[in-house]
Amino acid sequence: MSKILLTGGAGFIGSHTAVALMDAGYDVVIADNLYNSEDVVIDRLEQITGKRPAFYAIDVADADQLAPVFAEHDIDGVIHFAGYKAVGESVQKPLAYYRNNLDTTLTLLETMAQAGVNRFVFSSSATVYGEENPCPLTETMPKGSCSNPYGWTKSMIEQILTDAAKAIPSLSVVLLRYFNPIGAHPSGLIGEDPQGIPNNLMPFITQVAVGKRPQLTVFGDDYDTPDGTCRRDYIHVMDLAEGHVKALEYAKGNTGAEVFNLGTGTPYSVLEVVHAFEEASGVPVPYVIGERRAGDLADVWADADKADRVLGWKTKRTLQDMCRDSWNWQSNNPSGYRG
Ligand code: UFG
Repeated sequence: MSKILLTGGAGFIGSHTAVALMDAGYDVVIADNLYNSEDVVIDRLEQITGKRPAFYAIDVADADQLAPVFAEHDIDGVIHFAGYKAVGESVQKPLAYYRNNLDTTLTLLETMAQAGVNRFVFSSSATVYGEENPCPLTETMPKGSCSNPYGWTKSMIEQILTDAAKAIPSLSVVLLRYFNPIGAHPSGLIGEDPQGIPNNLMPFITQVAVGKRPQLTVFGDDYDTPDGTCRRDYIHVMDLAEGHVKALEYAKGNTGAEVFNLGTGTPYSVLEVVHAFEEASGVPVPYVIGERRAGDLADVWADADKADRVLGWKTKRTLQDMCRDSWNWQSNNPSGYRG
C-alpha cells in the first residue's frame, strides 16, 4: 500500500487530507510539531477512518528529527502543509515566517533526496497571483507581488520547488494554489480550530453563531462588487482534500513542476456567505460594517478548468454544504479541540 507523509498533517487542511487519503486506500504518516494544532486530531482521524495514522510530534525543519521518519517508513510521496499561515502576524514577524516556512521546505527536500523519495505536493495559495491579475485567475498568468511576508513565503517556495524539479530529473512537484477553504468533515470530529481571535471569515462567523463573540465586523462595503463587499472563491475543505489525492496520482506519472488552482470558479461576497450561513444553521449572525482591512482585494476567484481537465478533479460541494459542515463542527466543539 502506498504510504504518504503529511507534514502539518494535524492542521486544518492536513487532517482533512489525511481522511481523504485513507478513504482512497493510502497509508498516512503525519509529522507535525503541534505549533498550531492538537494531538487529539490523531484520535479523531482514527475515529473517522478506523485506521490510526503513524504520528511524529517533530519539527520538520530539523533534519535529525525528520530523517528517522523516512528510515522507519517506506514513504512514496510527501504533501507539505507545515508552515506559519497568519497573514497579519507575518507582517509583524517576517523573519520568523521566512525562517520557518523556507527551512521546513529545504530540510524536507534534502531529506527526501537522501531517502530517494521524489513525489512532492505543496500547499500553496492563490495569494501568489498578487494584486495585478484580473479574475478569474489562471495558472498561465505571471505571479504577482504579495502584500505580506506569508504570501511571499508561498511564492518563494514555489520557486524553490520549480528550480529543484528542473535540476533533479526524477522529482515530481505539484503546486496547489488554494482559494478559500472552509467547511469541515461531515462527522463534525475535525475542523478549523484557530487560536485566539479568528483572522478568517468562516471561523469568525461560527464563533459569533455559537455565542463566543458578539458580532461580525464586515471589512468594508464600498468595494467595486455587486453588494460592495469582497468576493472570494470558497471551497469545501473535503473537496480540497480530494484534490490532493488527485495531485498525488498525477505526480506518480509525471516529472517536473506543475501548478493547479484548487477552487470552485464561483465567487461569493462576504454578505452572501453570512446569509448562506444563517440559512444553513438557522442561527442569526449579527454584523456591523467596518473599515476595509489592509491588503484585501475586492475579488479573488479561480479559473478551475485546468484541474478538471488534467487531474479529473472538480468541486462537488455547495456553499450550503460548506456552511452546514462548518456549523456542525463548531456547534459540536464550541471551544474547538480544547473543549
Ligand atoms: N472578512 C470580514 N470580516 C472578518 C474576516 C474576514 O469581513 O472578520 C472578509 C475579508 O475582508 C475578506 C473575506 O472576508 O473579504 C475573506 O477573508 P479571509 O480572511 O477569510 O480570507 P482571505 O481571502 O483574506 O485570505 C485567504 C487565506 C490566506 C491567503 C489569502 C490570499 O486565508 O491564507 O486568502 O488569497 F493568503
